Amino acid sequence: MLKVGVIGGGSISEFHIIPYMKNDGVELVALCDSNEQRLAKVGERYSVTELYSSYEELLQNPKIDAVSICTWNNTHAVIAIAALEAGKHVLVEKPLSMTVAQALAVEVAVKKSGKVLQVGFVRRHGDNTKLLKQFIDQDELGEIYYAKASCLRRLGNPGGWFSDQSKSGGGPLIDLGVHMIDICWYLMGKPRPVSVSGNTYSKLGNRSHIQNLSFYQAADYDPALNDVEDLANALIRFDNGASLFVDVSFTLHAKEEELYVKLFGEKGGAEIEPKLVMVTEKNNTILNVTPQVDNLSFDFEKAFKNEINHFVDCCKEGKETIAPVADGVQIMRMLNAVYESAKTGKEVYL
Ligand SMILES: NC(=O)c1ccc[n+]([C@@H]2O[C@H](COP(=O)([O-])OP(=O)(O)OC[C@H]3O[C@@H](n4cnc5c(N)ncnc54)[C@H](O)[C@@H]3O)[C@@H](O)[C@H]2O)c1
Repeated sequence: MLKVGVIGGGSISEFHIIPYMKNDGVELVALCDSNEQRLAKVGERYSVTELYSSYEELLQNPKIDAVSICTWNNTHAVIAIAALEAGKHVLVEKPLSMTVAQALAVEVAVKKSGKVLQVGFVRRHGDNTKLLKQFIDQDELGEIYYAKASCLRRLGNPGGWFSDQSKSGGGPLIDLGVHMIDICWYLMGKPRPVSVSGNTYSKLGNRSHIQNLSFYQAADYDPALNDVEDLANALIRFDNGASLFVDVSFTLHAKEEELYVKLFGEKGGAEIEPKLVMVTEKNNTILNVTPQVDNLSFDFEKAFKNEINHFVDCCKEGKETIAPVADGVQIMRMLNAVYESAKTGKEVYL
């Protein structure tokens, strides 16, 4: 039985807690949140009685084999390192850290500890991603030389820690862009990034004055606090000549929300968002191919379940995780390079 503790009891924690509870090989033994009221509520909801307001104390519990880290971005690296040093396996939510230096420090701690560390790149675990990955691995798309991803919210700055640079490390780029860049990069075969050209804009603020249109607000929403970008875009070049274009926003004068992820290869193309579809050519004819599967879109709950179950298998059976720390480091390199390029107005070489 793998004994697990979950650190951070906010919105995303239930997508960790419930799959752990449903996994027969896992016992969820402890929860931690620095907000004691929230901790008590979550403990009661899931009938977990070992409750810690300090992650250091939870990590001292020798019974615990593994932890999920579901806290603010600024705490991911420090808690991950402490957990590894305490001999725990770690599933850390995205992004791995706020800086490349922190990500590299986590990588050193993983190597020293010999424990599993999986980064919460949940989109890799979607059923559709796994299906498309099989087609890509069988070379159905040929060499993928271009990818394009967009996640545009017209009104969707969640506020709270998300819009506090010191806790989040940035706005839509580090929050949404991390998923968009990762899913493209992963499906492209993880080519080495060589240069990044990016722009960020803080033109519209959080638009808390907008009425008649509701949007998700973090628990500690405070319209006065917002020092993150509204919009980011980037062009990332890879060592194999491939390129990726991405744009993401918390708010934008867009007609509607937009979410797409497209891959273009020499033999075929694919879209994984908003719906899985493949594009190919046969008998001098272009075909759009729709796989006949239960759900053509990303199923958030199912992907988290797959992610947690994969982490548990890696901890118990010594399997290699499909989202290792090295990938977390590369993604941090790309994200930080976008911010650096936007700040300097120049292309950044990695
Ligand atoms: N994979 C995804 O699709 C996805 C989706 C949402 C959020 N996330 C990630 O999950 C993390 C949490 O996001 P959320 O939406 O649940 O935020 P949240 O604000 O709802 O919850 C975070 C919780 O962490 C607690 N916390 C912060 N620092 C702590 C510390 N040092 N020790 C103990 N508790 C601490 C807070 O009190 C809060 O209850 C973020 O890193 C976010 O990027 C991932």
